[in-house]
Amino acid sequence: MRIPLIAGNWKMYKTIAETEQFFREFLPLVADSTHCEIAIAPPFTAITKAVKAARGSRVAISGQDVYWEKQGAFTGQVAAPMLAEAGCRFTIIGHSERRQYFAETDDTVNKKIRAALAAGLESIVCIGELLEQREAGQTEAVLRRQVDGGMAGLTAEQLTRIIIAYEPVWAIGTGRTATPDMAEEAHRFIRALAATRFGKEAAAGLRILYGGSVKPDNIKGLMAQPDIDGGLVGGASLDPRGFATIVNF
Ligand code: PGA
Repeated sequence: MRIPLIAGNWKMYKTIAETEQFFREFLPLVADSTHCEIAIAPPFTAITKAVKAARGSRVAISGQDVYWEKQGAFTGQVAAPMLAEAGCRFTIIGHSERRQYFAETDDTVNKKIRAALAAGLESIVCIGELLEQREAGQTEAVLRRQVDGGMAGLTAEQLTRIIIAYEPVWAIGTGRTATPDMAEEAHRFIRALAATRFGKEAAAGLRILYGGSVKPDNIKGLMAQPDIDGGLVGGASLDPRGFATIVNF
């Protein structure tokens, strides 16, 4: 049984004060939401406040990115043990915006997953094709390359602490969601791929989230698909009411 996970990725939004305000409004709305796990990934500066605000609730906190070294002269980076110490349970890795603007590659994704595992964090690993890749019929090849590169050398046991987020890049922040059928097709492909790499049992337990313009009015259709195990929500996670509606799909 895969427990659904609805995760909010705040990207570079919300101050510490806004984070506090969000939790004040959001927590009562999801107090009885035992049907799924809930996570929020605030900016680094607001993580400590979010952890404190969410204490005693069912909401877990996530980093948006992590660096693979434990410490050192790496200006601007944050290490996995630092996220763990701050109270994070998860970290997002390989988001398409990191790939697009900050030179993230499947190789750096792999290093970051290993660092997260070593620090006891669960990874939400993002993969997904560009519009031109989909139109050229390359979606499966892209997903295969990202899974094989990002997860290279990992064991089936380690896969239990990894969540994949399928996020077609053309659907992120565009208001253009993949239809539930399109998303399901990609999720089914990813699960079948995971089965060939990690075994059937590991693949059956792997949670695969959909991301890309998830909104209160499309989450239900997505969650009705057998291989969609939750959502990674950007823009719509910023509003406590809207995000609670998504959580309570
Ligand atoms: P969006 O972002 O929901 O705003 O499309 C999703 C994501 O980037 O994780």
